[in-house]
Amino acid sequence: MPEAKIIDGKAIAESVRDEITRRSAALLDSSGKRPGLAVVLVGEDPASQVYVRNKDRAAEACGFHSVKHTLPAETAESDILALVERLNEDPDIHGILVQLPLPDHIDESKVLRLIRPEKDVDGFHPVNVGLLTAGERASALVPCTPAGSLVLLKRTIGESLSGLNAVVVGRSNIVGKPMASLLLQESCTVTIAHSRTKNLPDVVRAADIVVAAVGRPEMIQGDWIKPGATVIDVGINRIPAPERGEGKTRLVGDVSFEDAVKVAGAITPVPGGVGPMTIAMLMVNTLTAARRLLGLTEEAPLF
Ligand code: GUN
Repeated sequence: MPEAKIIDGKAIAESVRDEITRRSAALLDSSGKRPGLAVVLVGEDPASQVYVRNKDRAAEACGFHSVKHTLPAETAESDILALVERLNEDPDIHGILVQLPLPDHIDESKVLRLIRPEKDVDGFHPVNVGLLTAGERASALVPCTPAGSLVLLKRTIGESLSGLNAVVVGRSNIVGKPMASLLLQESCTVTIAHSRTKNLPDVVRAADIVVAAVGRPEMIQGDWIKPGATVIDVGINRIPAPERGEGKTRLVGDVSFEDAVKVAGAITPVPGGVGPMTIAMLMVNTLTAARRLLGLTEEAPLF
């Protein structure tokens, strides 16, 4: 059995970031403006600290104006809301990202709803959710992980996904639901499966495209995959790896890669698949937001 093509998310993300760096330099040349991104981190969650640092670095590498606000975990909700309001009014900031999760005493949805939809580079505001669901992707800001997954699908399968059976496993607001909307807009036949789905293996077996976003390590087995299918694994799970030494861990996806790679036509690895695309798409969204806020025309879409 031939092994699947491994989708190189790192290389594709780099090509997207290169294109954004070029477009950002052209914007600076023609208007004297840099896209501005503000990232807000509340508390000291180690994973969030790594993500925020990477976002900040990527923005700088693209030539953006990048601002990081790090606040202690005990910050009052009113102070966070005041910061978002200040960023909403700041003409040098075109994208605002509040890293999730927020500490328990803060109402996440209240914070996310306060972000101006035009600056909502995460695509979590109800206005952007509504635009995407209504099929008006061109005027929305689309959540970064599903957008990045779609780029990987198109670079693998080609521009047209029309008529393909797509199964999205997971129904989160950050990945599953927006992913299903994007695939529907690409004229796929879309199924959203989740923890209560009956006979999940058979549902997945019907899929030409599988997007796994359940957050359960290696849950999707190789023999659930239709031969030749394209598999996008959004999961990032840290599991114990005693074979590497005591106390060691390793990252795995939601798909059992070693088996699935023998059946699929193409598959993303973890790490190095969807992960790098998420930050690349944040750069895409920040540049898009900047051009819209500056009243400039849209450029050729990257997905
Ligand atoms: N935490 C985990 N994923 C995300 C994301 O995509 N955006 C934000 N803001 N926080 C996250």
